Amino acid sequence: MNWKYKAHALAALSRVPGGRSLYHGLQRVAGTNRLQLDRDLERAFELVDLIFEADGEIEGKQVFEIGTGWRPFVPFVMALAGAKRVITVDVNPWLTSAYACETWRALESRLPEIAARCRVPEQEIVQRYRSVPSTACTLESVFVPLRIQYDCPADARDTQLPARSMDIILSSNVLEHIPADVQRDIHKESFRLLKTGGLSAHRFNPQDHYSTIDSKITNGNFLQFSEKQWRWYGGTGLAYHNRLRSPEYRELFQQAGFEITVFRERTDQRTLDAIRSGALTVDECFSRFTPEELAVDYIWMANRKAAPLPARSEIESSLPAFTN
Ligand SMILES: C[S@@+](CC[C@H](N)C(=O)[O-])C[C@H]1O[C@@H](n2cnc3c(N)ncnc32)[C@H](O)[C@@H]1O
Repeated sequence: MNWKYKAHALAALSRVPGGRSLYHGLQRVAGTNRLQLDRDLERAFELVDLIFEADGEIEGKQVFEIGTGWRPFVPFVMALAGAKRVITVDVNPWLTSAYACETWRALESRLPEIAARCRVPEQEIVQRYRSVPSTACTLESVFVPLRIQYDCPADARDTQLPARSMDIILSSNVLEHIPADVQRDIHKESFRLLKTGGLSAHRFNPQDHYSTIDSKITNGNFLQFSEKQWRWYGGTGLAYHNRLRSPEYRELFQQAGFEITVFRERTDQRTLDAIRSGALTVDECFSRFTPEELAVDYIWMANRKAAPLPARSEIESSLPAFTN
């Protein structure tokens, strides 16, 4: 499909009364949110990998997820891995009992794999799985035994949770849908929520999302537009995705006080070739970035809330006194 048809349709739906509900009804009919077990389980595992890579643990930890979405793979995997409590929040009520229960039932066939990836003995995972009644068919009946709390509507910018109450903060495919100023507030709140040494781990794809429906365009297609032009296509409303580039995501975490512990990015070769050959003309608003930075289409990162550096007076008072 030509991506512009979808972009114009979404831009129009975003601006008419009832357009949002109509869009989500259409998504349900089209099966956009259907169960994709392999893909979504792997995405949850990528967060597990990030935690381990940053020397973190899940067993016995307090976990907070930003942006539950439709399918609670991340909370389920964290609970099965032994998290003490998982709080998952979303500003939008996409999650339903039917989605949650279907997702939970599908995990039964994958318990050995979950055990291996989460480094937990299989019998413990099976025991945790059995804590949910096999007849469970409501959000409550599936979440309560797993100590998962779903807060919605709830904004990750202002959680009302106590400071230093969380060990791990996670998100999957969320940050690219959040404007920079909102991310700034979310990171500030995450920093407040985390205990010292706590981790904030995220995976996201800062690519032009219309490239998934139009093979003629590259993942960097949206870079050709000025801010004003992009505002119509995907810079507001239902299709919103920011066009932040890899260094900007790093800067946002660092400005909030985080130390970047793990950082991995994937470069889309097709986008890179198109930029280098001139087939894709990048708008001047991206002039500070290199072609390599512009062509990044996936990012995985884990950031630590490091212990604050001791004040100068503390360092001085701990030094031995020298006399002549
Ligand atoms: C693209 S969806 C991803 C959902 C899910 N994590 C997944 O991978 O399928 C992004 C989600 O982030 C949520 N979101 C956006 N801003 C948020 C905020 N400030 N606080 C909490 N959730 C937010 C949206 O409502 C949406 O459900």
